[in-house]
Amino acid sequence: MKNTRGRKRRNKRRIIFICKIAVCFAICVGVIFGLKAAAEMVLQGESKIILKPVGMEIREGEKIPEIKANIMVEGEQDIILDKKSDKTIKDLVTELKKGENYTVICQTDGKTEGSFPVKIVLKKELEKKLKNEWKGIVSIKTETATLHVKNAVGDWEGKKFKKANGQYAVNEFVQLKDGRYYFDENGEKVTGQKKIGVKQCVFSEDGKLQSEKFIGIDPTKPMIAITFDDGPGAEAGRILDVLEKYNARATFFMVGPRVNTYPETVKRIAALNCELGNHSTNHPKLTKLDVAGIQREIQTTTDAISKATGGRKPTVMRPPFGAVNETVKQTVGLPIIMWSVDTLDWKTRSTQATIDSVLNNAKDGSIVLMHDIHKPSVDAAVQLIPKLIERGYQLVTVSELAQARGIHLENGVKYSQFYR
Ligand code: NI
Repeated sequence: MKNTRGRKRRNKRRIIFICKIAVCFAICVGVIFGLKAAAEMVLQGESKIILKPVGMEIREGEKIPEIKANIMVEGEQDIILDKKSDKTIKDLVTELKKGENYTVICQTDGKTEGSFPVKIVLKKELEKKLKNEWKGIVSIKTETATLHVKNAVGDWEGKKFKKANGQYAVNEFVQLKDGRYYFDENGEKVTGQKKIGVKQCVFSEDGKLQSEKFIGIDPTKPMIAITFDDGPGAEAGRILDVLEKYNARATFFMVGPRVNTYPETVKRIAALNCELGNHSTNHPKLTKLDVAGIQREIQTTTDAISKATGGRKPTVMRPPFGAVNETVKQTVGLPIIMWSVDTLDWKTRSTQATIDSVLNNAKDGSIVLMHDIHKPSVDAAVQLIPKLIERGYQLVTVSELAQARGIHLENGVKYSQFYR
């Protein structure tokens, strides 16, 4: 009995032991498979697509280019997203690369300076699928870029300013969104005080124009009024450059058709405080016209000058060929300005002869007649302006000269000099 009982106990123990082994084995297998699946999940994970728009730069007024997104993919691409069509993540990426399934949004018309965010908006259908069916398989991240709309004027380069045409601003004002700046002869931004043209300008430390004050002429010192007829000429800008450089002025007697051809020149003549003069429209002898004809000749050019300058009107007139009679005097409605020094530049077409004529004949109070439509005359003016200043003359407009002599210019009255 003792032996039988002992055997039974041993058998029982063996069965328990085998059971324990089996359970252990089962647990181990379970754990291994579980870990393997988990590891696969971790390795495979969710594939990620990143859409990032390309940042861009344009100038004000330029057309906004078509903006596409750069596409990056992280993770497995062969996973099937749609069992019916066998569409994979790779196919989705291909669609995106073609620009499908999303739109790029940037809220600017490109006409205003500034930085504007460029955003990507996924189509609703795609957004829905990502949230539901494709959740955990693939996700799309959209990033933002910036579209810079630069001002149409140009760009800063340290203290210098490179204009949109590639040239640096030199001896000129530049109007920017945040202020008005002036660049000196070296192209550097001016700060503090500076005399520019006929004005004393004050700039802040960062170069913004704070105030400008008109500096009068000195009536005790000699002065000459240079006048240019028949223009503005194609090269009149060269005369204006020199006038601006030497803080000098002149009077331009212009004809309507040329005003319409060179409105920018006329605008600059006005901006430099030079005097706007009317020289008729078709350059006829006004003495041969009736009242209506004279009025038409004057009015058409006055309108053209006004249009070019944003409302400025000529303050003096010069009759073509100097031809004046009573009808002209009573009709033109402006002071009639003749001359005291005739350079005959239109006849000689000689730079040197024109220079000599002025230097030999002009004196304090003279009105000098030249023509800015001839290149030798422009060349002469460019040399004459600094020479006359060097000799102590102030170069002024006809009206300034009259004012300095205490003469009030009257409409229909002829003036040919303002000697002391
Ligand atoms: Ni003329």
